[in-house]
Amino acid sequence: MNALAGSGQGVRSGAAFPAEALRAQFPALQRGGSFIHFDNAAGAQVPQLVLDAVNRHLIDHNVQRGGRYPQTRAVDAMIARARASVAAFVNARRPEEIAFGLNATSFIRLVSLAIGQTLGARNEIIITDLDHEANIATWLVLERMGARFLWWRMRSDGALHAQDLAPLLTPRTRIVACTLTSNALGSVTDVRAAADLAHAAGAEIFLDGVHYGPHGPIDVQAFDCDYLVCSGYKIFAPHMGFLWGRYEVLERLPTFREEFIPDAPPGKIEAGTFAYENVAGMDAAVGYLARLGRTLSGRPGLPDAHSLGADAQAAMTAIRGYEQRLSLETARMLRECGATVYGIDADARVGERVPTFCFNLPGILPQRVTEAAAEAGIALRDGHMYSPRLMDRLGVSRETGVVRASLVHYNTPAEVHRLGEVLARLRRSG
Ligand SMILES: Cc1ncc(COP(=O)(O)O)c(C=O)c1O
Repeated sequence: MNALAGSGQGVRSGAAFPAEALRAQFPALQRGGSFIHFDNAAGAQVPQLVLDAVNRHLIDHNVQRGGRYPQTRAVDAMIARARASVAAFVNARRPEEIAFGLNATSFIRLVSLAIGQTLGARNEIIITDLDHEANIATWLVLERMGARFLWWRMRSDGALHAQDLAPLLTPRTRIVACTLTSNALGSVTDVRAAADLAHAAGAEIFLDGVHYGPHGPIDVQAFDCDYLVCSGYKIFAPHMGFLWGRYEVLERLPTFREEFIPDAPPGKIEAGTFAYENVAGMDAAVGYLARLGRTLSGRPGLPDAHSLGADAQAAMTAIRGYEQRLSLETARMLRECGATVYGIDADARVGERVPTFCFNLPGILPQRVTEAAAEAGIALRDGHMYSPRLMDRLGVSRETGVVRASLVHYNTPAEVHRLGEVLARLRRSG
């Protein structure tokens, strides 16, 4: 049983999820009218709270940190607050375990560069064919530093199974790099089972949490992972990335560091200046989620520093439940349209996926589907989903690829039905 599988309880409570009311907090959704955002995997919209935080930073505190005047001190305070918020969001043991930066890919490369310098006799790295290329190519480049690679292959159901990881682990395994949730197929990996196996072999585990971020609660202590990376733009924040690492692991990690930077996390992981305004936005995105969780749990007042983590986790649990309903609606709509769905499509396994669907319509090029949807005011995506090796596994061309509909908590069943009408029309017209 996948420990991250959502429960049926979540589906029932999802019926009362206030998606329509939440949409009012997203100016882009209000301005967009009937336009449907089903390309959230390429960037989710941001709530007003996030816009306000970014604006406030740029208007009031757009200066370098580390000085002695009020505005620069405000930047220091904002970064400290954001670090604590994001630490609470992923249930880190301490804020210093969070590093801010440009994006997820550059953090994966930072860790891979460091691991490459420490390979020794443990030179085997396990990667998967389900992952975004960002969590594959960044490791494969270590071949010239003596790394050997083993592939944890997804099964024909489009999911990674921990039983298939076990035989790949040896006393030479240095790290397992795998996705928490596929950005293409939406399948959720049982990362706790994978972490237990990796640790039993004396290896570490690196989780790509980028796609899972907006869909469910992240708990690095429950996952028992060593690293986890996320991207703000998927979690209702601007473009930025953050890396969580177990403190002792980050302490040991060799990184590039300027002479004036202390050799300790998080400074040793954060080269140069990052986009402070976007970090302020990420802090506000956690605040938005925490307010939602607090409202849904019926607790009075606004989240504070002590409740933030539990409030945000409550929101993510409710989102996970509501999104299962969206997954069921989308799967049914795609079945009715005669689409070929790649990945988990059985209703009974809805808890093992998020509402990210890759599909094709028989005899119709993916590009035609996304163009027809665009004409009808619906954003979809076509292509290889930045996972060309996965396209090979699925037996589809890397050039044309698949169609992806990626939903988040502000999407609704009514929007799914509108897409269904467009797809049905397209099939009828051939
Ligand atoms: C699962 C996954 N990993 C990594 C990335 C790369 O993230 P970034 O653009 O922040 O480098 C993405 C981007 O879509 C993704 O979906």
